[in-house]
Amino acid sequence: MKGIILAGGSATRLYPLSKSISKQIMPVYDKPMIYYPLSTLMLAGIREVLIISTPRDLPVFRELLGSGQTLGMKFEYIVQHTPNGLAQAFVLGERFIGGSPVCLILGDNVFYGQNFSRMLEKTGLVEDGACIFGYYVKDPRAYGVVEFDESGKVLSIEEKPEKPKSNYAVPGLYFYDNTVALRAKALKPSARGEYEITDLNCTYLKEGKLRVEIFGRGFAWLDTGNCDSLLDASNFVATIQNRQGFYVACIEEIAWRKGWIDNSSLERIGMKLVKTEYGKYILSLIN
Ligand code: G1P
Repeated sequence: MKGIILAGGSATRLYPLSKSISKQIMPVYDKPMIYYPLSTLMLAGIREVLIISTPRDLPVFRELLGSGQTLGMKFEYIVQHTPNGLAQAFVLGERFIGGSPVCLILGDNVFYGQNFSRMLEKTGLVEDGACIFGYYVKDPRAYGVVEFDESGKVLSIEEKPEKPKSNYAVPGLYFYDNTVALRAKALKPSARGEYEITDLNCTYLKEGKLRVEIFGRGFAWLDTGNCDSLLDASNFVATIQNRQGFYVACIEEIAWRKGWIDNSSLERIGMKLVKTEYGKYILSLIN
């Protein structure tokens, strides 16, 4: 399984912050936002990741994350010149995907909850078809929305409907089989001029190949779309970390727990950051 992080877009609701810096580089409490989706891919066992962003921002991601080697991973980078839809990620990433199944995560999606790793590992086994998620929200109008029948069967998915048929929004985390690039290439732009991920998901739905897993009410899928939700996400992470002492989305810790890097590599990383709380946390894992 390979992974793609799409970290583009104009982030207009974060203006003027977004004028100077990519949204996905902005901090969520104590780390760049992109650490959170990256950690989600890692928890799914994914070691090869393609990062797609704008011509302005891609060099910043490259500088931040490098080749991935220090995490026992491999990162590649591709520019998306115009932000014309999430489904374009698979067209741009076709060569990277090669013969694998692939997981796409949006660079501003933050997930946190018990048993998440286990759920991801199970979901990551998609060989034929697609798996997406549903999450109950008060107002789903800004999202893809899934409609179910009484037995839980998926009836439809609509992108940003004015009159949603349910409260189940589709988070920005998607697992696909290897037909996804071909399907993405065949899509037509929507009314808003974008190659929609929802249209892509509908191609699987029509063939009976779309699974929708539900994240329950104890699970957190956080929004980072405007200044208030960005602050809420930071406060959420701070609350968990300060209460439990476990870091959320410490990518070095995950790589180490997965056995992708050994004690001495982790120690080297920790020593470089020893003056920071983050570095001290990393060192505390092995001492
Ligand atoms: C995109 C997708 C939408 C999904 C959302 C999740 O919306 O089009 O289906 O629910 O991400 O974050 P956008 O971020 O383009 O508004």
